[in-house]
Amino acid sequence: ARITYIEFNGTAHQVEVEPGTSVMRGAVDNGIPGIDGDCGGGCACATCHVYVDAGWMQLLGQRAEIEEDLLGFAQDVRPQSRLSCQIEVTPELDGLVVTMPETQS
Ligand code: FES
Repeated sequence: ARITYIEFNGTAHQVEVEPGTSVMRGAVDNGIPGIDGDCGGGCACATCHVYVDAGWMQLLGQRAEIEEDLLGFAQDVRPQSRLSCQIEVTPELDGLVVTMPETQS
């Protein structure tokens, strides 16, 4: 699926990410700055915080409880906030756009 990652400074990176992996992994594997994924996707670091474009929220569904809890420690959390390691890439996510918060710039 084609995913667009937009850094806090506005730099956009469009990459192809394999279904079955995570949105965080797609960024790390492609060397996209701003998503560190320090905990390796264990939902324990919140360095993979992104804002999902409004139109995609419904398709992604609810945040899991563990994700909700960890976002409590993240800065500048908004309704569109998600931890990108908890977003599994599927073919339906083709065209997804995520933006990074200022703390990850
Ligand atoms: Fe650590 Fe997502 S990679 S919480």
